[in-house]
Amino acid sequence: MIEWLLNSKRPPGDESQWLSPREASRLSQFRIEKRKADWKLGRYTAKVLLARVLLEREGDEPPLSSIEILRKPSGAPLVRLSPDARPLSSGLLPGAPIPVSLSLSHSNAAGLAAVLANEGLQTWHAGADLEWIEPRSARFVEDFFVRHEADAVFSAPEERRPLLANLFWSAKEAVLKALELGLTADTRDVRVTLSRTDEAPEELRPAGGGWEPFTVELASRLKRFPGAVFGFWKQQDGYVLTLSVLSETRPDLSSHAN
Ligand SMILES: CC(C)(COP(=O)(O)OP(=O)(O)OC[C@H]1O[C@@H](n2cnc3c(N)ncnc32)[C@H](O)[C@@H]1OP(=O)(O)O)[C@@H](O)C(=O)NCCC(=O)NCCS
Repeated sequence: MIEWLLNSKRPPGDESQWLSPREASRLSQFRIEKRKADWKLGRYTAKVLLARVLLEREGDEPPLSSIEILRKPSGAPLVRLSPDARPLSSGLLPGAPIPVSLSLSHSNAAGLAAVLANEGLQTWHAGADLEWIEPRSARFVEDFFVRHEADAVFSAPEERRPLLANLFWSAKEAVLKALELGLTADTRDVRVTLSRTDEAPEELRPAGGGWEPFTVELASRLKRFPGAVFGFWKQQDGYVLTLSVLSETRPDLSSHAN
């Protein structure tokens, strides 16, 4: 199940309540107020969700300041138990990575976080994106979309075009986040088709109702993983939310066992 949270509640003003010392030091490096606010909202949303997931899975709910969200060189988030946290009752030690894939997004004063727990040898990569539904220019659609996506936007009734333009854009971003590429890649290399059939296994679907599937075709230069890609979207409170999941099939290690 992909656990997710859309949140517009502001984080507590006392940051020591919910940021680790290392995170607080990173926050102090931001100079632009909007960037600070977005970063805090994304981190807070993700931590509230992670605490819920840890309680459900591990039977333990560490304080938010013990759940540390670091930044990989790609910019993607990495979750660990803070080095000065207490061990979890499941045995997870301070400083250890928490075996989940987290993705987050912020848009127009709201944050979206999605978490997928990884178990065994199968690793899943989650991507999440949030867009405020607003008009996009024809130039934007022509520049960033492939033909069938642009045609789907232009042939829709006028009132539906902002939803579709933001939806295709968001779906591409969610997939590029799951690939940990972000906008370093060409958005036209991720081709999105809205679909009526959901082929994702039950455990890879978003929790809760109202999600619609989309399918993804990746250009060959983006095929980093041999596994499958699944996508989901929904409209809520003036936003479009998208989630994607990518599988990374690890080699079978059983032949190396002795
Ligand atoms: C990833 C990206 C598409 C997100 O764009 P956006 O729509 O402006 O922002 P969103 O709010 O939807 O998402 C931002 C979050 O995506 C995540 N993110 C950033 N780069 C990512 C990547 N390569 N892969 C996966 N997730 C990424 C981060 O968690 C970020 O939030 P944070 O910086 O507050 O932690 C965009 O930041 C990007 O690609 N930038 C260019 C690449 C880049 O500069 N990478 C930094 C390497 S030094």
